[in-house]
Amino acid sequence: MINVHKPILPDRAILDQYIDRIYDSNWLTNNGPLVQELEQKLSAFLGCKNVILVSSGTSALEVAIQAVAKEGEIITSPFSFAATSQAIEFTGRKPVFSDICRKTFNLDPQLIEQKINENTAAILPVHVYGNPCDLNKFADLSELFNIPIIYDAAHCFGIKTQNQSVFNFGSISVTSLHATKLFHTIEGGALFTNDDELASKIRKIINFGIQSNGTIKGPGTNAKMNEFEAAMGLALFPKINEIINLRRTLWQAYYDRLKSFFDFQEWSPNTTQNFSYFPILCQTEKELLNIISALEKESIVPRRYFYPTLNTIYNKPALEHSDDISRRIMCLPIFPTLDLKVVIKATDIILKTINR
Ligand SMILES: Cc1ncc(COP(=O)(O)O)c(C=O)c1O
Repeated sequence: MINVHKPILPDRAILDQYIDRIYDSNWLTNNGPLVQELEQKLSAFLGCKNVILVSSGTSALEVAIQAVAKEGEIITSPFSFAATSQAIEFTGRKPVFSDICRKTFNLDPQLIEQKINENTAAILPVHVYGNPCDLNKFADLSELFNIPIIYDAAHCFGIKTQNQSVFNFGSISVTSLHATKLFHTIEGGALFTNDDELASKIRKIINFGIQSNGTIKGPGTNAKMNEFEAAMGLALFPKINEIINLRRTLWQAYYDRLKSFFDFQEWSPNTTQNFSYFPILCQTEKELLNIISALEKESIVPRRYFYPTLNTIYNKPALEHSDDISRRIMCLPIFPTLDLKVVIKATDIILKTINR
């Protein structure tokens, strides 16, 4: 069975060296030396001032909300993974959904202003499939209404826009380091901010709100990454460029064969790609279902990602573009160890099924 993702594992000998260090130090968690080393390496590699590693992308979102958003409403995209709106709800805020742009699949900044009121606590846009949102427009909205922007950048590892990491934008950017992501720590996530004071506040929130003098001040939780997870990240770290290159080859093979037949997401200008996903937009939902059924017969399993849209979880009305895109989009398998022959086979099946 070929699924959309297959986790990559590091060279065993390199991982063992880090595990040996854990056995030597007997330090398993609580901001251990391997977590600190991985934070430093990621900060230098990505060009981000403060990198704070946590237990998952979801906990990173929850912590970001606790750090910068007052109680109230958070405007977000219905075209995302459940974690985006669940983090809002879990922290006691209310998700307010606004529609996406039908070309970029990202939250449409033009529609946001009409949703802002005195209860708006933050805007939480998602860089869907790693494609950066309209960063300048969201920065303008943030300044105009004095509300923080928290970017869900779960798909964005390694992506650069405007000559720097996309993680450098917003009050806080959050990513996922889950096993299925391009770069991972088994379970894990990270928060990025240029604001040192905010970084220090976040470090306290992820450790029960314990302050430098030992007193406890809310909000607080346990969102710490442990040393074994950091060991996985450190062992994979030397492979990052190789992972991206292998993905690029597969992505290009899909694209060359399918580009005349499907619509694709419009990518933000002056922006690199990390080839984490290969989404195709079908002409109709029926076409999508036919393709899925034909691929599954050959044990190739694409994923309807994201379907259904998040507003349906809350019994909120469908929004035009997110609903339409969600019904017609699927992601095809792409991961570094995928055989190019599977890409050829999958595209052959797809082209035969659509017959145009
Ligand atoms: C857009 C988005 N946000 C948040 C998350 C949650 O990340 P994690 O699985 O690390 O908790 C995901 C996970 O895939 C995601 O796709």
